[in-house]
Amino acid sequence: MAPWWQSAVVYQIYPRSFADSDGDGVGDLRGIAAHLDHLSALGVDVVWLSPVYRSPMDDNGYDISDYTDIDPLFGTLADIDALIEGLHTRGIKLVMDLVVNHTSDEHAWFADSRDLSSPMRDWYIWRPARDGHEPGSPGAEPTNAGSFFSGPGWQFDPASGQYYLHLFSPKQPDLNWENPAVRHAVYDMMRWWVDRGVDGFRMDVINLISKTYPLADGPANGPGGLCYDPSIVVEGPRLHEFLREMNREVGLSEKELFSVGEMIMVDAATARSHTDPAAGELGMVFTFEHVSIDNGPTGMKWDVVPLHLPALKANLAEWQDEMADVGWNSLYFENHDQPRSVSRFGDDSEPFRVASAKTLATTLHLLKGTPYVYQGQELGMTNAGFTSIEQYNDLESTRFFAEAVAGGGDPAQLLAAIAFKSRDNARTPMQWDASPNAGFTTGTPWLAVTPNHAEINAVAAIADPDSVFHHYRRLIALRHDLEVVRQGRFALLLPEDERLFCYTRTLGDEVLLVVANWSSEPVALPSDLPDRSGAEVLLGTHDSTGDELAGWESRIYRLA
Ligand code: NOJ
Repeated sequence: MAPWWQSAVVYQIYPRSFADSDGDGVGDLRGIAAHLDHLSALGVDVVWLSPVYRSPMDDNGYDISDYTDIDPLFGTLADIDALIEGLHTRGIKLVMDLVVNHTSDEHAWFADSRDLSSPMRDWYIWRPARDGHEPGSPGAEPTNAGSFFSGPGWQFDPASGQYYLHLFSPKQPDLNWENPAVRHAVYDMMRWWVDRGVDGFRMDVINLISKTYPLADGPANGPGGLCYDPSIVVEGPRLHEFLREMNREVGLSEKELFSVGEMIMVDAATARSHTDPAAGELGMVFTFEHVSIDNGPTGMKWDVVPLHLPALKANLAEWQDEMADVGWNSLYFENHDQPRSVSRFGDDSEPFRVASAKTLATTLHLLKGTPYVYQGQELGMTNAGFTSIEQYNDLESTRFFAEAVAGGGDPAQLLAAIAFKSRDNARTPMQWDASPNAGFTTGTPWLAVTPNHAEINAVAAIADPDSVFHHYRRLIALRHDLEVVRQGRFALLLPEDERLFCYTRTLGDEVLLVVANWSSEPVALPSDLPDRSGAEVLLGTHDSTGDELAGWESRIYRLA
C-alpha cells in the first residue's frame, strides 16, 4: 500500500507572516491556532511550519540558537503543544522545519566551538588561512567558496586566528557532519520532537550536509573571484549514508513519519535515488530545477528571463517520468523562498489574476507527487510591489543589492530584478480581510501589507464560490477522491506548444486529460488532442467546453 503522505496535500505556514495574536507586528503560534478552520475548510492534510525555534532571526529563524525551545517572538512550548493538539483534532498533521546543515552562531554549540581547545571545536568546519596569507587579510580565506547570500563563504574569527565555513550568512555556521557526535545530537533532537507529537520533518538544504573533503577551490565564477558553483558543495560522498542513518535512528520509515528533503541542484535521477523506498532515506524531495527555468544565462536567480513554457513542461515531465515507478517528488510553485506564482508565471493584472491563479493550481495539482500550497497562494496573492530597497527585509535581497551596487550595478535594474524575484514577495502578511492591516495584526506589521488586500483576502475568497480558494479546495478534494490523480501515469502532450500545457494521467481504464492555456490570449485546442466527446469536465476555470480556451482557461476532463 502507498504510504499515507502520497495522498496528502501540504500547507506551508511562514509563521512570521501568517497571523499575529499579540499585536507586536510579527505572526506567532497563537495566531496560527486561531486560524485552523481556514485550513480545515481548504482540506489540507499536513501543515509544514517554517522555523519557530529560538533564533537571533538573522535569516528569520533559519538560524537556530536552540532546537528544543520556541522563540519568544512566536510563543512557548505550551503554545506549540496546543497547536499540535488543535491540528490533530482536525485530522491535520504537523511537520517541523529541520535546519541542521548549520546553526546560528549564537547556538551554545558554536559558542563552545570557538574555543580552540574545546572538544566541540570539531563540531563546525574550521580552517586556517590560505597558505602564505596573513589570517584575516583580503583573499586569505581557506578556499574561494562564496556564500549563497553573497560574499565569501568563510568568516574570520580573530580570537582563534581561523575561519569557519558558512554557506549561508556569517551568522549561520555549517555543522561538521563528519563528527558522529554532531549527527547523534541532531537525531536526539529529532526524537525529542517526535515524542512531543510532531509528524515529520522538512529538511532544510539537506543535500549540503555531506561535504567533499578536502575542501578545495572551485571555478572562480562570481564577483571577487569567488566560487558560486553549488555543485562543488552539494551531494557529498556520505549523503546517502547520513540520510540512511538518520532514518534508522529517528525511525522515519518505521514510524511512517513525513520526510521531505530540500535539495538544491538535485537532478531527477539523484532525487529518485534518495526516495526509492529500498534506500531507506527520505519520503520525498523538494527540488529547484523547475523554479530555476526563468533564470538567465548566468544561472543566478536575479538574472531574470521570461518563462519559456516548453522548457518548464520538459522539466516537469522529466521528473514525472523519472519517478513514474520509483521515488516521490513534491509539487510546488511557491514557498517562502519564491515569488508569488501568479505574478511570476501567471498574469496578476485584471481580468486574468483569478483565472491564471486557478490554472497554475490545476496544472500543478493534477501532476503526480505531493502538492504544497504556500500560505496566501490559495487566495491568489500577488508579489509585494516594493519600489525601494528600504522596503525589503530579506538578507538575501539586501546583501545582493549592496554587493551589486558596490560592484557598479545599476540600482534601478537591480531593484527591478529584486521586485520580481525577492523572497519578500512571499513574506508579506497573509491577507485575511479588508481591514487596514489585512487582519494580520493590530500593531505595525514587520513587513508591509500588500495594498491589494482590500480585494484579495480570505473573507472575500471564502464568500465567493468562484474564488481561487474554492478552486484549490476542489483540487484537493479531487486528489483525495481519485486514485488516478494520486497514482496515475503521466504523459505530456504538445511539448513544443508555447501557450498550452496539456497532459493525461492514466490508471487502468481511467484517463484524465488536463488542458491549460498558460497565456492571456484565447487559444484553439489542436485536433490531435485526445477525443473529448462524451467526456465529463471534472473542474474548469470557465463554464465553457468548446474547442477554444479563453485566456488562462483550463479544464480537467475525465475521458469516457
Ligand atoms: C533554505 C530555506 O528555505 C531558506 O529560507 C533559508 O534561507 C536557507 N535554506 C538557509 O537555511
